[in-house]
Amino acid sequence: MKRIGMLTSGGDCQALNAAMRGVVKTMMNSDEEVEVYGFLDGYRGLIYGNYRMLQSQDFSGILTKGGTILGSSRTPFKTITDPDENGLDKVKAMKQNYYKLNLDCLVILGGNGTHKTANLLRKEGLNVVTLPKTIDNDLYGTDMTFGFQSAVDIATNCIDCIHTTASSHSRVFIVEVMGHKVGWLTLNAGMASGADIILIPEIPYDIKKIADAINKRKKNGSRFTIIAVAEGAISKEDAKLSKKEYQKKLKDSKYPSISYEIADKIKQVTGEEVRVTVPGHTQRGGSPCPYDRVFASRLGSEAAKLILDGEYGFMVGYKNREIVKVPLEEVAGKLKYVDPDSSIVKEAKMLGISFGD
Ligand code: F6P
Repeated sequence: MKRIGMLTSGGDCQALNAAMRGVVKTMMNSDEEVEVYGFLDGYRGLIYGNYRMLQSQDFSGILTKGGTILGSSRTPFKTITDPDENGLDKVKAMKQNYYKLNLDCLVILGGNGTHKTANLLRKEGLNVVTLPKTIDNDLYGTDMTFGFQSAVDIATNCIDCIHTTASSHSRVFIVEVMGHKVGWLTLNAGMASGADIILIPEIPYDIKKIADAINKRKKNGSRFTIIAVAEGAISKEDAKLSKKEYQKKLKDSKYPSISYEIADKIKQVTGEEVRVTVPGHTQRGGSPCPYDRVFASRLGSEAAKLILDGEYGFMVGYKNREIVKVPLEEVAGKLKYVDPDSSIVKEAKMLGISFGD
């Protein structure tokens, strides 16, 4: 008999349900008896003992369903060891609930912050297996996270739609793409939709270079320019600031986000009419794309195999087209950035895409 607890933590994404279904279906298909407890709203459920015992029918029909049947919440790692407003020791509470239910393992689905806490629980002696979710694809130790490809599809579709209206009105259009501190989503959606300029945090931009790219297009007869901007994009000057100085700059900024600042500067330098579109959380919503359904199911299935084999303390990831197990201590606390010298960036440049550098 295996008793597993499961939770989804942090910002949601597509295919969380597909991944959980993959874990449970695989376990239920094995010779082992299995009991599944779903903690509600991420680590909060584990801290406060909010859970539901789940049956096989809970996992039926959820392969295509976005969001998470367990709910999610952000429980920041940096305050996880602080007592809550009532003085509760959160780490102790999580351990107590784990032992009270006599669990063999916790299956934790999450991104960066989630993995730091998962690793802490591992160090505290709990059996943990994790699955890499996030539309940002910034999790260290895996080439790909589930949710990413679905978000690429949505952001791509958004930029595709912008193309036609940009052309009609002869405008410069900025589409701001999510991705937190990294540019994976913007780079991929930008290339997939034929963006003319792609701005990502890993390659700080120079507004003059952006203006040059716009003017060059105009000179060559193009009626419009499409710029895919990562929400974490940063100028060359700002990249020189300390983290604290930059955070202050953002806090004091009159612009709602970096795209509006870039739009304003482009207007000043080129005189072009500029519009900004922010698809925002739509990028995390809706049904997972077929790729993510398959990918998350495979990861879930391999996670179940680890549990059945009694192998704990791993994230199930994807490296060089193989599903692999990665020790949690190797994953926790690190980000996976786009390498400015990687072949995909070089190829994008060869295709004529400007990165504003
Ligand atoms: O990590 C996923 C993500 O969607 C990021 O791309 C984005 O920066 C952030 O979450 C938004 O967070 P929230 O949903 O808390 O507004």
